[in-house]
Amino acid sequence: DLKQFWQGKSLLITAGPTYENIDPVRFIGNRSSGKMGFSIAEAAAKAGAKVTLITGPVQLAVSDQVKRINVRSAEQMFTAVQAHYSNADCFISAAAVADFRVADIAEQKIKKQSDTDEMTLTLVKNPDIVAWVAQQDDKPYVVGFAAETQNLIEYAKDKLQRKNLDMICANQVGETLGFEQSENALTLITSEQELELSLATKDELAVQLLKFISAQ
Ligand code: PMT
Repeated sequence: DLKQFWQGKSLLITAGPTYENIDPVRFIGNRSSGKMGFSIAEAAAKAGAKVTLITGPVQLAVSDQVKRINVRSAEQMFTAVQAHYSNADCFISAAAVADFRVADIAEQKIKKQSDTDEMTLTLVKNPDIVAWVAQQDDKPYVVGFAAETQNLIEYAKDKLQRKNLDMICANQVGETLGFEQSENALTLITSEQELELSLATKDELAVQLLKFISAQ
């Protein structure tokens, strides 16, 4: 029973995309509807956990039991995570964080140049939020996601190691896979174990993920 483990536990979750502004009307961003992270938040709250959900721009609602913090950019998500990770027993990073942001955000709308057909943006690296949490002395149990279009398990294991995570949830993504759908398939990987969860709703996968974490 999920409640036995999660009742009273504190869980921090990130979800959704981040949007990196180019100017006041344009942005670049990653694909994510937020569904996966919101499903985990809802399932954990139902199991009695104290859930804080830090989310990028999404079209989803969440029940009152979940403390929701809305952010837009990766830097804002990072600041919110830094403020909340130390109270958490577990951190689940389901957000699709943009790896880069625009170096100089224009203060005014960039005007279309009539004399050129190209435009160049300089991007700089964003902080790696989940890797930062996993480096802290007082780190919670850290669960990351790996969204890959090829070599899923190999790349996921590499991220598990490189980011010093306790667990990674690998999912194949593509045009019609992973993002936005209500169903997904996940492989849960720790240094010791691998568990394949076949195609199911994200609500069902959330319950199975929380069960697997409680068994660690
Ligand atoms: O939101 P949905 O539409 O339901 O789709 C769900 C999902 C496919 C977005 C989700 O299941 C998922 O895989 N989320 C992670 C997507 C991602 O950005 O993966 P990644 O392989 O690029 O990143 C690896 C891990 O590092 C992730 O835990 C990510 O949150 C984290 N990360 C990445 C970059 C960064 N700057 N900071 C991070 O914390």
